[in-house]
Amino acid sequence: MCGIVGYIGNQDAKEVLLQGLEKLEYRGYDSAGIFVMNTSGEGNLFKEKGRIKELRQEVKQDAQGTAGIGHTRWATHGVPSAMNAHPHQSENGRFSLVHNGVIENYRELKEAYLQDVTFHSETDTEVIVHLIAKFTEEGLETFDAFKKVVQLLKGSYALGLADREQPEKVFAAKNKSPLLVGVGEDFNVLCSDAMAMIRYTDQFMELMDGELVVLTDTAVHIEDVDGNVKERVPYTAELDANDIEKGTYPYYMLKEIDEQPGVIRQLVQNYQGKNGELEIDEEIIQAMLASDRIYVIAAGTSNHAGWIGKQLLEKIAGIPVEVHVASEFSYNMPLLTEKPFFIYISQSGETADSRAVLVKTNEMNYPSLAITNVAGSTLSRESDYTLLLHAGPEIAVASTKAYTAQIGVLAILADVLGRAKGKTPEFDMIHDLGIVANAMDVVIDEKETMEEIARLYLSKTRSAFYIGRAMDYYVSMEAALKLKEISYIQTEGFAAGELKHGTIALIEEGVPVVALITNAETAGHTRGNIEEVRSRGAATVVVSMEGLNREGDQIVLPEINPLLSALVSVIPTQLLAYYATLHRGYDVDKPRNLAKSVTVE
Ligand code: F6R
Repeated sequence: MCGIVGYIGNQDAKEVLLQGLEKLEYRGYDSAGIFVMNTSGEGNLFKEKGRIKELRQEVKQDAQGTAGIGHTRWATHGVPSAMNAHPHQSENGRFSLVHNGVIENYRELKEAYLQDVTFHSETDTEVIVHLIAKFTEEGLETFDAFKKVVQLLKGSYALGLADREQPEKVFAAKNKSPLLVGVGEDFNVLCSDAMAMIRYTDQFMELMDGELVVLTDTAVHIEDVDGNVKERVPYTAELDANDIEKGTYPYYMLKEIDEQPGVIRQLVQNYQGKNGELEIDEEIIQAMLASDRIYVIAAGTSNHAGWIGKQLLEKIAGIPVEVHVASEFSYNMPLLTEKPFFIYISQSGETADSRAVLVKTNEMNYPSLAITNVAGSTLSRESDYTLLLHAGPEIAVASTKAYTAQIGVLAILADVLGRAKGKTPEFDMIHDLGIVANAMDVVIDEKETMEEIARLYLSKTRSAFYIGRAMDYYVSMEAALKLKEISYIQTEGFAAGELKHGTIALIEEGVPVVALITNAETAGHTRGNIEEVRSRGAATVVVSMEGLNREGDQIVLPEINPLLSALVSVIPTQLLAYYATLHRGYDVDKPRNLAKSVTVE
């Protein structure tokens, strides 16, 4: 949520910043801005509502500079507008500042210190730049003023600061929001995500909460708020620049859907031990076996993966599992068992709602495991253990391959736990995941069918339903989220049997109802529910698994282990969402009002 970049060196700063922001657009794309300055401290500020391409058009080619900062925004305080876009400047134009995060006490700070200052935006951020100006006017050096200000701030922040009187430096500070320093030859950079700067360097330093940084073109100075200087060795970011390009694909979402069979195969390889069996760090397994209940905490799509995980962990490993929405759990905690074990599922590893729960469960000393796509992310760092998704960067805002990778990791975890408990596996997980990957390929090859169904059923409708039972219900929730978030069709994912208890009143002539049938035990009942909505005018689409299919079903999935069916049945729903959005003429990768990494509660 919001992306920031910074640069100091001897190249054209505006180009580095703009290219960096383009790679961070997934974090927010309602407005953007950059500030660049030359070695004499002459600066240029550009801000624009909309995407980076709009900002690019505003940036003057002759605005040369060797240092600067940039920001792409997902509005929290104040509407998306050029005025509210970052960087924000001090009244005298000396300081420019970009911020990712939320300052909770900005009103109090304004009241206490800045009553005489004229504010130009509705943001919580502007207070910071005015405070820095105030303290420097009172005699403090920029770095000391910056340090004093961050000590006053309550909330989350990754900050980049430029001072026109010190054009040979860029300053930064971090608390809770992600921020990295990228180290180059004769230049250094700042970024919210290594992806932004990978084309310039693969050497990065992680910053810790409460740290401040001064970058010059040749040095990185890190200090905490108490003045302790920190030594930090850069790590090599294992990110392939090609992974973050669309290549020949029109949208990242389609590329990421197509990558799913490969992700599942890769996952199996990554978790396969020397003896050929699936392996997970013994410490994690023992900590989980010592618990009496697993609590899965996650948001959105990751939460939906958690529901599938519950089935897998309970059925394969015999461990009771509760799944909770992170934002609810945080402030409405249920009565916990004596020995809870917490699993945090998060693609980004940065979701503030999940982190708020982790902070609490850490205070209570409960063991925790992060299942995430991003090594070194906040949830990974702050949990006791981590299992990585190895899915490669997911850039489309709508999550696809991370969801299937999360289920893949949970299936592997269930398998290892079950064996560690001495249970004889009822099936060979490695073999069955291989079959899943092949089945995914088959469904992905059916793009034309999906496009046609999307055109016929979803290109004009105002609302839609996904229905299913058990595993198919959990996939329906995810399918509905996918469709609504990118096509803006009001969609509900419903337990097929529950519809008749009220919601069936919404079914009228032509409303699309997509039913998922992958389980023999519930197939008959779901068929009954399909008839109920069909007789009330619904335009039904049936996605069934081979063996359970009937004549007229529009999509038939290859037969796979029903416990793993979600991995395959979700794919047509992803493709339907994708094509429905294309038919309706919207941007698939960047739906309105959303951002990829939700770092505010
Ligand atoms: C939907 C989607 C979101 C995320 C949610 C949690 O397509 O991507 O619902 O799943 O914001 O994000 P992570 O997984 O990064 O914690």
